[in-house]
Amino acid sequence: MRDDRLIVALDVHTMEDVKALVGQLDDSVAYYKVGMELFYSVGAPVLSYLKEKEKKIFLDLKLHDIPNTVAGGLCSLMGLGADMLNIHAGGGFAMMQTSSEALHAAAEEKGIACPKLIAVTVLTSIHAGEWAEMGHVEKIDAQVIRFAKLAKKAGLDGVVASPQEAGAIREACGKDFLIVTPGIRPAGSSTDDQNRIATPAAALRNGATHLVVGRPIRSAANPKEAAERILREMEEA
Ligand code: C5P
Repeated sequence: MRDDRLIVALDVHTMEDVKALVGQLDDSVAYYKVGMELFYSVGAPVLSYLKEKEKKIFLDLKLHDIPNTVAGGLCSLMGLGADMLNIHAGGGFAMMQTSSEALHAAAEEKGIACPKLIAVTVLTSIHAGEWAEMGHVEKIDAQVIRFAKLAKKAGLDGVVASPQEAGAIREACGKDFLIVTPGIRPAGSSTDDQNRIATPAAALRNGATHLVVGRPIRSAANPKEAAERILREMEEA
C-alpha cells in the first residue's frame, strides 16, 4: 500500500530514530514530514537519506519573517530537495507573494521542479479561548479562510489547516488547492496537544489532499500496523 496522501511526521531527534521508524514503516509510507526538531538537530543529511530511500519530503520549517528574508531562506532550502516547503500566512500577502515568485524563479534558473509552497493558516493546537486571549475578534475559521484566499492570491499552492476547516477552504479556493491537515486522530486515540482535530476519513471527506500524522503512528506499539489502518480508512473514505 503506497499512498502519497499520507505524510508521516518524523518528529524525532536523531538519524538513528529516523532510520528505525522509516525502516519499520517500510513500503507503507511514501511521504515524510521533517520538522524543526529533526532538522535543527540533524540538518541536511536527513533529506539526503529520505531521497536515497525514494521518499517524498515535506520540509515543515514554517518560515515567518520579512519578505526578503523568507524568500532568501526558501531559495536556500530548495537546494536540499524537499517536495514541499511552508511559510506562515501571518507574514502577510507581500511576504507570501515575494516568496512564491523567488522560489519559482530560482527553480527555473536551476532547471528543477519547483517545490510546492504552502502557508500555515492558524495552528491546529490553538483553541477558541487562546485565540480570543491574543486579541482576535474574528473567529478562527473566518481567519483561516481569509489566510487561505490570500495565500492563493499570492500564488501559493495550498495551505496547512485543521481538517475541520478543510471543507470551507475547498469551497473558497477551488479544486486544485492543496489542503494539508495535521490534527488527525483516528477514533479513540489520544488528542495530545491538538485541538481542532478529525479522523482520517472525515478529513478527506472535508476536502483535505494530504494528512499529516505523527504520534498516532510513531507512538503506536506497532507503527506499521497503525499506518496501514489509517491507509485503509483513507481508501474507504
Ligand atoms: O503528532 P501529531 O500527529 O500531532 O503531529 C502533527 C504534526 O503536524 C507535528 O509535526 C506538528 O508540528 C505539525 N503541525 C501541526 N499544526 C500545524 C502545522 C503543523 O500540528 N498547523
